Formats: sequence, structure tokens, C-alpha cells
Amino acid sequence: MSEPTAVPRPADTACRSRRQVLHGAGALAGVVVGGGVLAACAEGTDPDRSADDVSTSAAGQAVVALEDVPVGGAVSAEVAGVPVLVTRPAEDEVHAFSAVCTHQGCTVTPGDGVLECPCHRSVFSLTDASVQSGPAPEPLGEIAVEISGADVVVS
Ligand code: FES
Repeated sequence: MSEPTAVPRPADTACRSRRQVLHGAGALAGVVVGGGVLAACAEGTDPDRSADDVSTSAAGQAVVALEDVPVGGAVSAEVAGVPVLVTRPAEDEVHAFSAVCTHQGCTVTPGDGVLECPCHRSVFSLTDASVQSGPAPEPLGEIAVEISGADVVVS
């Protein structure tokens, strides 16, 4: 009788790019691990696309309604197929960042006055996405946005 196979826990896994999954050790292991890993990623998004890609390809596109972004908080959104976080540190101050964690690519989510990665607990600032704690090596990529009428738009 064979030993049961360990199932990766969410804290032990991270989103991998398709490239990483395809080049993982063993095709079958890559698919199995990739399937579990990708469940932590936003569905239908491409973690390989950078914030720069969004800034270039989505200029002028509305991201969210300003009223949907709480002052002192953030909301998750998607622009050009990329998961983003729109933050509002102050009434008239908004920012947007790629939600793809710089550690291992999990999707970062709004937290209590911060941005949080659910995989290994990196915490990022609302104002500049700088790393406050955790293993992430760099801030989240910034996407230039501005308030235009009732919306937050890519500038
Ligand atoms: S993927 Fe490890 S902290 Fe985000």
C-alpha cells in the first residue's frame, strides 16, 4: 500500500507563472503543483504581465469608481487582464499597483490599512506599495492613475 500524497497547503504554495510551471521538475508534478498553486491566483489573469504593460496598454481606461475605494483602504480590480489594487490613502489621493506579489507571484489583496499577500504574509504600504514586512523583495509595480470625474483612470 502506498503512502498518501501530501497536498500543499496555501501557505506553502505560491502562484507560478506559466513559464515556471512548464519548466518545473517533471511534467506531471508541474501540472499537479501548478493546479494547486494557480488556485491562489486571480482566475483569468496573467501574472507575467507587468505594471508597465498595463500603464501602456490601458491609458485612459477607467479602473474603478472613486466612491468604491474606501479612504484609508483599497479595492481589488482588473485592468487589461491584470489584477490590480487601487488604494486611497487620503480623500483626494489614489494609487494603483499590480496585485502580483514580487515574492512568488500570488495575488495580493486589500488588508486593514495595508495590502497583504495571503501566501507568505508580505505586507505592502497603501501609498507606495513598499514592503512593510514579509519575504517580498520589492514593492508592487505601480500603475499611474488619476481621479477623473467620478472614476479612477489609468493616466
Ligand atoms: S508570494 Fe510569497 S509573500 Fe507573496
